[in-house]
Amino acid sequence: MQRLMNLGFLTSVRDLIDSRLPTEKVIKEFPAPEIQFMLKHSKVPWYCLWEICTKCDSRCKICYLSDFDSVGPTSNAAQRIAAQIIEAGIFYVTLLGGEALLRHDLEAIIATLRNAGVFVKLITNGFQLSLARSKSLATAGLNHIEVSFDGLTPQFHDNSRGSGAFIEAEKALIQAKRGGIPRVGIVLTLDSKNASEFHLLPSFMHEHGIRECYISLFKKVGMSGSNAQMDSLASEAIISLYRQIQIWHSTDPELLITLLPACTCGRTSVVIGADQRLRPCPFVHAKTVGSLEEASLSSLWASIGDVLYSDENFPCQSCLVR
Ligand SMILES: C[S@@+](CC[C@H](N)C(=O)[O-])C[C@H]1O[C@@H](n2cnc3c(N)ncnc32)[C@H](O)[C@@H]1O
Repeated sequence: MQRLMNLGFLTSVRDLIDSRLPTEKVIKEFPAPEIQFMLKHSKVPWYCLWEICTKCDSRCKICYLSDFDSVGPTSNAAQRIAAQIIEAGIFYVTLLGGEALLRHDLEAIIATLRNAGVFVKLITNGFQLSLARSKSLATAGLNHIEVSFDGLTPQFHDNSRGSGAFIEAEKALIQAKRGGIPRVGIVLTLDSKNASEFHLLPSFMHEHGIRECYISLFKKVGMSGSNAQMDSLASEAIISLYRQIQIWHSTDPELLITLLPACTCGRTSVVIGADQRLRPCPFVHAKTVGSLEEASLSSLWASIGDVLYSDENFPCQSCLVR
């Protein structure tokens, strides 16, 4: 390890390596080696979040997006971006918006990525997830779908997403399973208010017949999120989440609850915005490295370190974006 550090392959990013967080115990949603959290910059990006639009049929109070207007690239441009993703060697793509289900070419985009063997996940609010849509996503080859929850009861979820949103999200979980999407899970965004419901998570997962939950820690940024009544969690609260998850991992090992110990932004992962600009971090819109309309994904990825390491806010350990 020390030799790799001396050679510059690994870096002691702040306290990352000596972090109090139990990185060795973390269960991730795909078997990437622990080393991804210590890599300074992988030659090939492993993981991509692709915001294929910012247009959305919901106005969540927590939202980190900076606008809700973009319909994203044209279908032809989206296919060119998919080709760039494949060409760059990315093996895992998460599609999201805005609300990605508002795009009628979503299945065609998924099919292109899947035909090249890329693993594809979709994150959605579930409003548009009819049984027919769910079946057509499964037919296109979608591997994994996550329905977002801003709370585990209507009290918190509907407070953020509007009356009736909780029931719609629950229905989406049912339709996704009926439609044959292989992996169905949730994203739970936790903030200073809804964290009081965290203890309900295992019973919620059993009740809804799901095994996988990704925890997103609320960042107080974006057009709505920066004005939200909720705050991000303090580091002590985050550490107690880890402790609780570890307990559940031993008492209820069927459940895969993922809370990453650090971010991989710009080091092994990248974000493609609806405007086709590349950025290291989903929550920091101002820091971009250029557009896929002007340069290849591989060449932009090669220069991402210049943005990442020239700014004291990057890389963020357990995320400095609060
Ligand atoms: C921007 S949303 C877009 C996808 C889709 N419209 C949805 O609701 O799932 C992507 C994910 O980020 C989460 N999210 C939104 N704002 C956030 C914030 N400020 N901090 C952390 N996570 C956030 C959402 O709950 C959702 O799981």
